[in-house]
Amino acid sequence: MSILSNKHILLGVTGSIAGYKAADLASKLAQAGADVDVILTNAGEKFVTPLTFQSVTGRRAYTDNDLWGNEAHVLHVSFGKTADLLVIAPCTADTIAKLANGIADNLLTVTALAATCPLVIAPAMDGGMFDHPATQDNLAKLKERGAIIVGPAEGHLASGLTGTGRMVEPAEILGHIRIVLGRKGKLAGKKVVVTAGGTQEALDPVRVITNHSSGKQGYAIAQAALDSGADVCLVTAPTALTAPVGARVVKVNSAEEMLKAVLAESADALIMAAAAADFRPKNAAKDKMKKRDGIPQIELEATPDILKTVSGSPVDKKRFQVMVGFAAESQNLLENAAEKLKSKKLDFIVANDISASDAGFAVETNRVTILFANGERENLPLTSKMEVAEIIIEHTSRLLE
Ligand code: PMT
Repeated sequence: MSILSNKHILLGVTGSIAGYKAADLASKLAQAGADVDVILTNAGEKFVTPLTFQSVTGRRAYTDNDLWGNEAHVLHVSFGKTADLLVIAPCTADTIAKLANGIADNLLTVTALAATCPLVIAPAMDGGMFDHPATQDNLAKLKERGAIIVGPAEGHLASGLTGTGRMVEPAEILGHIRIVLGRKGKLAGKKVVVTAGGTQEALDPVRVITNHSSGKQGYAIAQAALDSGADVCLVTAPTALTAPVGARVVKVNSAEEMLKAVLAESADALIMAAAAADFRPKNAAKDKMKKRDGIPQIELEATPDILKTVSGSPVDKKRFQVMVGFAAESQNLLENAAEKLKSKKLDFIVANDISASDAGFAVETNRVTILFANGERENLPLTSKMEVAEIIIEHTSRLLE
């Protein structure tokens, strides 16, 4: 169940060219299962219409015409009371000033003043206005009251100038919304280390031995842990993915580097979703191997087993109260997973059959069986890697209780 499922999100849209991106944010929120009510200011309507938002949220969008309508008092008071979060994106300097000073002269600011839910603001304004002391003072006041300010970013501005004032991307705003909604979750106050991606073992300065891991399963677990309020360290091999907002990211290449990164952490839980190599070239060439020198013979050697290293030594075992591993198998799935569960001294292991075309490496879905140290097993049907991640985090938080 996504953190956004059935949450009532108010999205305020003010007068900025970034208003078109607000439609994407509204769509992302709605697709994640939230009920999104959009409130456009008059200036906001100059850039984007209520119909745009109604089309992506499936709900009415509100404007100042509704402020004087017969349901007006209901609107701002009920919205203010029922919203789980108010996000204003884009948020102009004018609206920031009104919020900071309790001005309530349109439906959005009236609602903001009546709202008791968390407030997230994504500033958007042209060069110079963001740096002006008045804007900075207003933002400081809002921060003091607990508002979350996301951005703005450096970049190209409508005036043709470049500078700080560009609204950050909707995905980043969404990430902060998830953090705010998740901060009282089951893992609040807990720290979780998640590893992801396929390590790269050097053959020479140009070539590596790696695997097909895309990092999707590990990144989904990091996101699920953040959604539950955890402090997340994501130790990641190279991937094409963007790390979830709020995770502290440690980039590694080889299994050796991943081991070092894991040993540098101590946390309530370690979840090893990474496809760390078992073997690496014994002697990586110092220079690029040349074809003219013939076909190289490559001798492999074992890499350090990260989970065994951590669960092996008493000192290191104390690093992580709960330890979770994966088993990527193409045959004898459960026997092999059970063996790893024991040999790596795990609390539970997530066994996935990577020979299936719709599970394992790179695909959006996974089909896993979870084997617990106490002998219990849980068979999950084919589902999204995010769903698998949420179930893994559910079990992890239960074991941490
Ligand atoms: O990244 P995706 O494209 O989404 O694909 C997801 C996945 C298939 C990579 C993931 O679901 C998965 O199965 N990850 C573990 C892959 C793996 O290395 O499994 P394994 O059976 O070889 O290793 C068993 C466990 O030991 C794993 O938790 C692994 O992280 C860990 N390990 C492996 C090697 C090593 N040197 N040290 C380790 O600790």
